[in-house]
Amino acid sequence: MADLRIGMIGYGFMGRAHTNAFKRVPNFFPGLKHTPVLQAACGRSEDNVKQFAAQWGYASVETDWRKLVERDDIDAVDICVPNKMHKDIALAAAQNGKMIFCEKPLAMDPAEGEEMVAAVEKAGVANTVWYNYRRVPAVTLAKDIIDSGRLGRIYHYRSNFLQDWCISPDVPQGGPATWRLEVETAGSGVTGDLLAHCIDTAIWLNGSIANLSAMTETFVKERVHVDSGQAQPVGIDDACSFMCRFANGSLGLFESTRYACGHKALFTFEINGENASIRWDLEDLHRLEYFDHEDAGPLRGWRSIHVTDHGGDHPYMDKYWVPGLQIGYEHSFLHQAADFFEALEKNQPCHPTFRDALETQQVCDAILKSAESTSWTNIQ
Ligand SMILES: NC(=O)c1ccc[n+]([C@@H]2O[C@H](COP(=O)([O-])OP(=O)(O)OC[C@H]3O[C@@H](n4cnc5c(N)ncnc54)[C@H](O)[C@@H]3O)[C@@H](O)[C@H]2O)c1
Repeated sequence: MADLRIGMIGYGFMGRAHTNAFKRVPNFFPGLKHTPVLQAACGRSEDNVKQFAAQWGYASVETDWRKLVERDDIDAVDICVPNKMHKDIALAAAQNGKMIFCEKPLAMDPAEGEEMVAAVEKAGVANTVWYNYRRVPAVTLAKDIIDSGRLGRIYHYRSNFLQDWCISPDVPQGGPATWRLEVETAGSGVTGDLLAHCIDTAIWLNGSIANLSAMTETFVKERVHVDSGQAQPVGIDDACSFMCRFANGSLGLFESTRYACGHKALFTFEINGENASIRWDLEDLHRLEYFDHEDAGPLRGWRSIHVTDHGGDHPYMDKYWVPGLQIGYEHSFLHQAADFFEALEKNQPCHPTFRDALETQQVCDAILKSAESTSWTNIQ
């Protein structure tokens, strides 16, 4: 058994989700050779980060991420801060020989992403990006089904990520709670935030995207900035739709918005193949629906598979309770952490790596360029 000492940068939504995962890995994946140790948490406010460290069990705190990445007693850095900080932290961490967990999107744009890929590959440090939905058991099962060839040739891929929290024009931009609405901090709006998840999952399940045509819209053109208290132009995309052609010849349709009144986190995908279709919905995340074209008779219809069985049929589930009892959102992070440690033992990459995530970044960039130019765009 080897300790793997974690330095966590950021203690918001993802800081908590990842910390929970690191704490639970040894309990639910006891065979792993690495044990995550909560060595240090980093945030700008000493009081706040001390409170977080006490609540979640970190041994020490830092208020400057540069100090944290230089510490000899840190093996892996976890980047859980707004997008504009990912690159600088990753480059410094790689230079100091640290393994890196990085939140998505990898970077602000592909140029930053390329620098990050070059840095981790040059340093030879283990790296992964938290596109965690790959590790929801029903989504992993979808991957197994597709890879087994049961769907046959894929014709269509459809995916949405719908929210509604920006409908009010009174929601501000910038600051600690609404940095996602400030383009200088987020890089883009729903494209890098929500569609990036749909795209990562799509590339994983159905292969690369060859070209696309996109449209974006910013419905509320000005919002008060938290820092200045003044109304300022909004630079992010509030909504985005795109159609695309995958390298395997299938057609894709994607939509994301923060203005779909009534939807909080409706992430869905549906795939139609020549033999069968599958579909999934984050708000019912332990179910995978399957329609087999071979089924005949009056009982023909969609099957709803409760992905909670043991015995290896349903990924990850034999680590938990008894068949039929479900797990939740937070376990997708636990699975990625466990897979990272297992990959480390085998001296293999833990996907998605920085290089994998760069492909998603390139698709996001092509979306923004296509929307801007109102033309079809090839993926570089
Ligand atoms: N994988 C997912 O499903 C998922 C979900 C949410 C967010 N994210 C990504 O995670 C990252 C963080 O998002 P979040 O929702 O946790 O944000 P958040 O606003 O909840 O937390 C951000 C944290 O960063 C800290 N921070 C900001 N500037 C800092 C600095 N200079 N030094 C140290 N700490 C600093 C803040 O204090 C806060 O603790 C983003 O890149 C986001 O896109 C991914």
